[in-house]
Amino acid sequence: MQKIIVTGGAGYIGSHTIIELLNAGFEVVSFDNYSNSNPDTYQRVKAISGIQIPFEEVDLTDKTKTIEAFKKHQDAIGIIHFAALKSVPDSVARPIEYYRNNNDSLLNILELGELHGIKSTIFSSSCSVYGNLRKDQLPVVEETSWNEAECSYANSKQMGEDMLRNVSKISQQNLIALRYFNPVGAHISGLNGEMPSKVVNNLAPIITQAAAGLRDQITVFGDDYNTRDGSAIRDYIHVSDIAKAHVKAMQLGLSDKMESNFDVVNLGSGNGVTVFEAINAFEKNTGVKVPYSVGPRRDGDVEAIYSDCTKAERVLNWKCELGIDEMMTTAWKWQQYLIDNNIKA
Ligand code: NAD
Ligand code: WQD
Repeated sequence: MQKIIVTGGAGYIGSHTIIELLNAGFEVVSFDNYSNSNPDTYQRVKAISGIQIPFEEVDLTDKTKTIEAFKKHQDAIGIIHFAALKSVPDSVARPIEYYRNNNDSLLNILELGELHGIKSTIFSSSCSVYGNLRKDQLPVVEETSWNEAECSYANSKQMGEDMLRNVSKISQQNLIALRYFNPVGAHISGLNGEMPSKVVNNLAPIITQAAAGLRDQITVFGDDYNTRDGSAIRDYIHVSDIAKAHVKAMQLGLSDKMESNFDVVNLGSGNGVTVFEAINAFEKNTGVKVPYSVGPRRDGDVEAIYSDCTKAERVLNWKCELGIDEMMTTAWKWQQYLIDNNIKA
């Protein structure tokens, strides 16, 4: 079996990707320091897959500890590097922490990947690398020039991609950066989903928490955008679709089929959905009302962003299978799982 190191494997996207890697017949090991997750995730992965995966508790910014973890898994041939801090507002408040965590850990991963003869490394990038786009640049293609990053989180991803691009010039590895748009939803079983230990700012968990009565309401940040209903447009993508794209990317990286040993691919659905449409989809699919009010625009928010998915289809032979209805249904299933099991997310 081909062994893949999944960093941040206890986190939201990492754990869903582990499930899909196991489904595809890969062996995995997770490296995580649980700064925004919990090792209980592996029990949920086991409940879904039937497999207890090995894991190492390691802060990937600590080079000595990271070397030790790699030594235990010399047979690994691929890395998927999810581990990072990811909150936009937090990164504005704590830029040094974000640069240190996200860039030091990537540097260690790249260096040890080289030393251990890793064949392919996949890097979690983000649509935030594009910065603020004009309407005529939508849907956004991979070749679009970056604007100034809106926060140090986004800048850490720009720097991460630059690191990959430059390392690829001397590397035997295939290096692929995947730029995710807005990952949403939970595993179709409802047994695994988003459970960060830090404060949540994202739309879907706020919708499910408001619907469950765990918060009074959701504030819709602005209804005066120049969009079809006045609320902002994003490209929501089901987390299991994102996970499956990683399997495809790893299979590509391990093959001899890449045109160059560095590539960048957008992972989105290609569909723009407004905040009101997301709330309506939740209510329609669950029959549960979402208490909301309209507030002012949130600082730093863009009016609209959504992906062109042509390259993902061409390069990865991948496209989304699930839509906003499944995203909301599974997010709600997961919220109920948390409540039923008395788990505080
Ligand atoms: P997450 O916080 O759920 O998972 C990240 C995991 O990495 C956590 O388990 C955390 O404990 C771990 N981690 C962080 N720093 C670490 C370190 N120094 N050493 C070891 N482990 C560490 O986040 P997620 O939503 O699963 O995001 C995964 C990746 O995808 C991140 O790189 C993120 O920037 C990127 N991304 C996420 C989104 C999103 O909206 N969720 C969108 C675009 C890109
Ligand atoms: C979505 C929409 C909000 C909460 C962020 C990062 C991006 C990427 C994905 C990592 C926006 C609106 C939200 C609320 C609302 N992450 N909203 N009320 O900001 O598009 O993207 O996560 O790489 O880099 O910036 O996601 O889920 O926070 O917001 O009206 O209480 O929902 O204004 O239009 P965002 P989000």
